[in-house]
Amino acid sequence: MPQLIDGKAISAQIKDEVKEKVRQLKEQGISVCLAVIQVGEDPASSVYVGNKKKACAYVGIESLSYELAEETTQEELLSLIRELNEKKEVNGILVQLPLPGHIDEDAVIRAIDAKKDVDGFHPQSVGALCIGQPGFVSCTPAGIIELLKRSNVEIAGKECVVVGRSNIVGKPMALLLLRENGTVTVAHSRTKNLKEVTKRADILIVAVGKPKMITGDYVKEGAVVIDVGIHRNENNKLCGDVDYEDVSPVCSAITPVPGGVGPMTIAMLMYNCANSVCLQ
Ligand code: GUN
Repeated sequence: MPQLIDGKAISAQIKDEVKEKVRQLKEQGISVCLAVIQVGEDPASSVYVGNKKKACAYVGIESLSYELAEETTQEELLSLIRELNEKKEVNGILVQLPLPGHIDEDAVIRAIDAKKDVDGFHPQSVGALCIGQPGFVSCTPAGIIELLKRSNVEIAGKECVVVGRSNIVGKPMALLLLRENGTVTVAHSRTKNLKEVTKRADILIVAVGKPKMITGDYVKEGAVVIDVGIHRNENNKLCGDVDYEDVSPVCSAITPVPGGVGPMTIAMLMYNCANSVCLQ
């Protein structure tokens, strides 16, 4: 049986560390506040936003909630962001994605003050990551690095293959692994002979958005497998991008779905919020 990389336990540990940091900041008279904006009522987004607010309450970060109607205009949203940028007492601004089709997501992300960009999506945050300067790092890939480190998986010198090249996961993931001195390959939908590429990986990170796409024959014996996907199958059961049953006998360590990468995203958001005070 492979080692189970327990995202639930590791995220709880990180949230407790953040809670302690927030307590120390409070002792110095510094409070931390996150503004959370949701446009429309997408049910999945509502669950995520609810969980983010709950995590804030747990670690002692104040949260301000802005629930805007689906028909909110882009200008109205941008105007709210500008207002929050100016507010000294607001340390972090998070706009839950996806946004309704009539709003340009890139324009919204760009409008957030990079010093308050706790999601790490702003071009300035991404650029800083790229050239090794301080800035916010996208929460899911940052959480994966924590999962690996806290499970004693060495990254330096290892063959790391990231499947998926999204702005939120794949690209920042590759940059973070590089920063940890991994040898990094990014594979994607146009990669030829994908199996040959993934079979080189000592550390395989899968963020493709296709249920159970990665089976045992994509994985090298003894590899560490990180599954970013989350899907609900026809029996209403959760599964990832990795076929867990098929890959388990081949790998040395694996993240389950649920309870692997998922809980890490919110823990790292809390970490970014507490850290925002230092960047400001
Ligand atoms: N939608 C799905 N994941 C995320 C995330 O990490 N941040 C934001 N803002 N929206 C999301």
